[in-house]
Amino acid sequence: MADHRALRDAFGCFATGVTIVTATDGRGRRVGFTANSFASVSLDPPMLLVCPAAGASSLAVIRESGRFGVSVLAADQRALAERFARRGVDRFAEGAWVEAESGVPLLEGAAANFACRLAHDLPAGDHVVLIGLIESFRAAPERAPLTFLRGRYG
Ligand SMILES: Cc1cc2nc3c(=O)[nH]c(=O)nc-3n(C[C@H](O)[C@H](O)[C@H](O)COP(=O)(O)O)c2cc1C
Repeated sequence: MADHRALRDAFGCFATGVTIVTATDGRGRRVGFTANSFASVSLDPPMLLVCPAAGASSLAVIRESGRFGVSVLAADQRALAERFARRGVDRFAEGAWVEAESGVPLLEGAAANFACRLAHDLPAGDHVVLIGLIESFRAAPERAPLTFLRGRYG
């Protein structure tokens, strides 16, 4: 049984970017949350992964719609990272959101956006590994990315 605080601190030594993972339900209601558990997986076919908590409120919508979006935040989008990790607020009240062809919300001004079809949904302890098949993407490599290390944004 790992000491959660110590394990969190050890994981935190790995510098990551920060993403917002999004989805839209059948009535057009948008959901999303901040995630740094993003990784590239495969070029051919193009795939990525993200790991939501098993209890994440967005998970049911991702599963029901079979689609999710990932927006890789730019350095000036820290307030959105904080907003999408907060409960009891309208997370989509800030930021310019557009819809991919599949309907998933994507953030304008992000360093990169990916629209995915849910390809694999793997239980993993208190989290779930979602592997998405990338249906479309765009990148703005000139946009400096928001980073996260040892519990702090950089
Ligand atoms: C920088 C950062 C990274 C995060 N990464 C993840 C993650 O990879 N997976 C996850 O489930 N929650 C992650 N969270 C926490 C969720 O954003 C937060 O718990 C959110 O409230 C979950 O959405 P929900 O309340 O709608 O379930 C992260 C939070 C921050 C600030």
